[in-house]
Amino acid sequence: MYDTATDQDKKIIIAIDGYSACGKSSTAKEVASRLGFTYVDSGAMYRAVTLYFLDHNVDLENQQQIAKALKEITITFKYNKAERRFETYLNGGNIEEDIRRMRVSNMVSKVSVIPEVRSAMVDLQRVMGKGGGVVMDGRDIGTTVYPDAELKVFMTANFEARVDRRMRELESNGVEITSDEIKENLATRDRIDSTREVSPLRKADDAHEIDTSYITFEQQVQKIIELARSRMKALSNA
Ligand code: CDP
Repeated sequence: MYDTATDQDKKIIIAIDGYSACGKSSTAKEVASRLGFTYVDSGAMYRAVTLYFLDHNVDLENQQQIAKALKEITITFKYNKAERRFETYLNGGNIEEDIRRMRVSNMVSKVSVIPEVRSAMVDLQRVMGKGGGVVMDGRDIGTTVYPDAELKVFMTANFEARVDRRMRELESNGVEITSDEIKENLATRDRIDSTREVSPLRKADDAHEIDTSYITFEQQVQKIIELARSRMKALSNA
């Protein structure tokens, strides 16, 4: 029923970047599922490192502790058939729910500025994307991880729409939170993510920008599927 890519199609890489709560992850997951591609949530990887640092009291100023912790961390994704989603595992344990909590959200951007953390995650993301047929979402996928990705999308949305979406998402997961807490978290992460020295969040010059403030989820998904189809067609005719 869906638009699954055929074997003849070029196994492209689709990079989806943008600010938090613009609908990146849910859109990326759906696009991957309809095309029969693998989905990689790069943000979950930074969240997993953050959880480990919090639980092991890693001092963010201490390079030795950081290097040691990074060596101890193994991150994997496994598909949960019952929940119909990929879940994040840290050293074999399922941490999908823990990494969405505010204690992690409030710390993750401070961990993500650390060059050693970025370099370890970028290496892992490149391994996960090997062979193509991948949709990866994050902040620097089209600029740093896959600057040659065949399709790059940059998703935006106005601040109110983002706060509203994150609020509904957390509430549906049973997390009690005020809209002020969400506003504070999103604004702080926007600032840190887009001003950090190593691979800051920015739109790649060749990315297609999609403003999701006033379009439906289905329209977002369709737009990217159309872009992917036309890119795959152009490549297979080349
Ligand atoms: O779910 P949400 O959009 O709020 O964030 P996320 O995609 O889970 O990413 C969490 C944090 O990880 C971001 O705020 C960034 O600090 C960091 N991140 C990054 O630096 N680079 C990426 N490619 C992905 C995430």
